[in-house]
Amino acid sequence: MNLNELNAIAKKMVAPGKGLLAADESTGTIKKRFDAIGVQNTEDNRRDYREMMFRTGTAMKEHISGVILYHETIRQNAKDGTPLVKLIEAAGSVPGIKVDAGAKPLAGNPGEVITEGLDGLRERFQEYHKLGARFAKWRAVIDIGAGMPSYNCINANAHALARYAALAQENGIVPIVEPEVLMDGDHDIARCEHVTTWVLKEVFQQLFFAGVALEGMILKPNMIVPGKKCAKQNSREDVARATVKVLKDCVPSAVPGIAFLSGGQSDQEATAHLDAINKIGNLPWAVTFSYGRALQAAPQAAWSGKTENVGKGQAAFAHRALMNSLAALGKWSKTDESKAA
Ligand code: 13P
Repeated sequence: MNLNELNAIAKKMVAPGKGLLAADESTGTIKKRFDAIGVQNTEDNRRDYREMMFRTGTAMKEHISGVILYHETIRQNAKDGTPLVKLIEAAGSVPGIKVDAGAKPLAGNPGEVITEGLDGLRERFQEYHKLGARFAKWRAVIDIGAGMPSYNCINANAHALARYAALAQENGIVPIVEPEVLMDGDHDIARCEHVTTWVLKEVFQQLFFAGVALEGMILKPNMIVPGKKCAKQNSREDVARATVKVLKDCVPSAVPGIAFLSGGQSDQEATAHLDAINKIGNLPWAVTFSYGRALQAAPQAAWSGKTENVGKGQAAFAHRALMNSLAALGKWSKTDESKAA
């Protein structure tokens, strides 16, 4: 492992005003997104859709430091035959790859899940590195509910994240460590704060046991928010304060950057929360976005699978990328939303 190289890649991923595009939806997940806009889930449509984003010049060059790809996409060519990875690299952005095999039911803990995909991962990392990937992502999923999460669920997922991260670094790839505490329930913000603290403490302990170099990784956490079904929805400032408190309590300053998931927040909420967090300031890490839905919902709707809408889809993507770039600098305001990208 060359730690200087890993550290340089990690810093590039969280460079000021830049963040990550999570375009690593599995074929099943992108089907749900395409169903919502009436687009057939074919290999060509998946290619056309992602090519549209990767060819959005300003967004890719100025605001998107890296793109998380799915295993189909990292091998896919644009319509003119150029590998999609080359489009990303040409924009000065870093290609990355989702390597987990998804969350499966956790034996012994009904209702909870464990992320799979460790078997054969060393060889897969070697192949992905040859294909151009310089960072990777593994997502663990923790649900909050009655009697959940269990210690077994947190511990098993933290252990898998640490084994994945160590293997990534061994192969010259920066691991994005993503322990996602879901915002689906009716729990309040205090419960999210408590569970996320517990999860992050366990994750960093397992990363230590596995010998993962914190300087060569990126953390991708959830923000501290109440569950979607909670009667009390907190202010943006509450969310920002609670999120910064938990992160300062749990994330060593050796970690170069934190890149949040959007997790089902609306586009504007995800932007406003990131902005409020950065407005608090004096943070020991770069704090930015690694959004899937909050960067793509608008371009998906604008494109809707029609070639004549590519320009509109690109404008929508460029706009969200710019808004999140401003938020990563703590310089966004609601009035920016009405500006054209
Ligand atoms: P969302 O921003 O849609 O939560 O997706 C980010 C991601 O990569 C989840 O693993």
